[in-house]
Amino acid sequence: MTKEITPQVPKHVAIIMDGNGRWAQRRHLPRIAGHREGMENVRRIAIAANKLGIKVLTLYSFSTENWNRPRDEVSFLMKLPVVFFNKFVPELIDQNVVVKITGFIDQIPTDTLKAVREAEEKTKNNTGLILNFAFNYGGKAEIVNAAREIALDVKNGFITPEEIDESVFSKHLLTKLGNLDDVDLLIRTSGEQRISNFLLWQLAYAELYFTDTFWPDFSEEELLKAIENFENRNRRYGAL
Ligand code: FPP
Repeated sequence: MTKEITPQVPKHVAIIMDGNGRWAQRRHLPRIAGHREGMENVRRIAIAANKLGIKVLTLYSFSTENWNRPRDEVSFLMKLPVVFFNKFVPELIDQNVVVKITGFIDQIPTDTLKAVREAEEKTKNNTGLILNFAFNYGGKAEIVNAAREIALDVKNGFITPEEIDESVFSKHLLTKLGNLDDVDLLIRTSGEQRISNFLLWQLAYAELYFTDTFWPDFSEEELLKAIENFENRNRRYGAL
């Protein structure tokens, strides 16, 4: 059997940006210092991903479970998009990056939502990397939400149960990236090897890459290493 090598850069890369808290702890700093440094790294890695020709970079920025963290940490995490976009939108426009958000955004504070919407609006005509923030996102809730929407469509007579297939279902996901919904490569930093309710549907055939590096230290070189590792894998999608 000939071994097929995937020569292309992955189209959709998703990252679980873990280890901010431990990065800060090692430096005897408060956890939020780790999140702040993590935010700076979002910029560095987005620019690098854009340069590499990756089409979508989805970043797990706030999960539906993160509401259970201490109140101060939650409010800091909710403000991060405001800080990030104030600081970096001009550069993202320059770099031809498109900003998007995936998640239950009606539940986030108004000023956060406003900052995100403005960034989306200002970058909507760009054609480079889609920088997609998974914010107040949870994979199980996303699937339940899709099921509920489809049930309503059936109830209202728009489709029959027999017409529900993967293509119909995926149109009800929160990602809304069309043929770029599926993730090719998932990276998780900080040594944990779990999916943690991230993009459960979209990760169906993703290659998984784990590194011990904490997110604030995850560099462009490490991203390249992950991409090279991906390029040397043999993706068969269940076939031989
Ligand atoms: C997990 O590390 C990280 C988060 C819950 C937040 C991630 C957010 C960022 C990196 C910034 C996002 C930027 C924008 C613009 C929205 P952890 O706190 O669980 O780390 P630990 O496991 O070491 O405690």
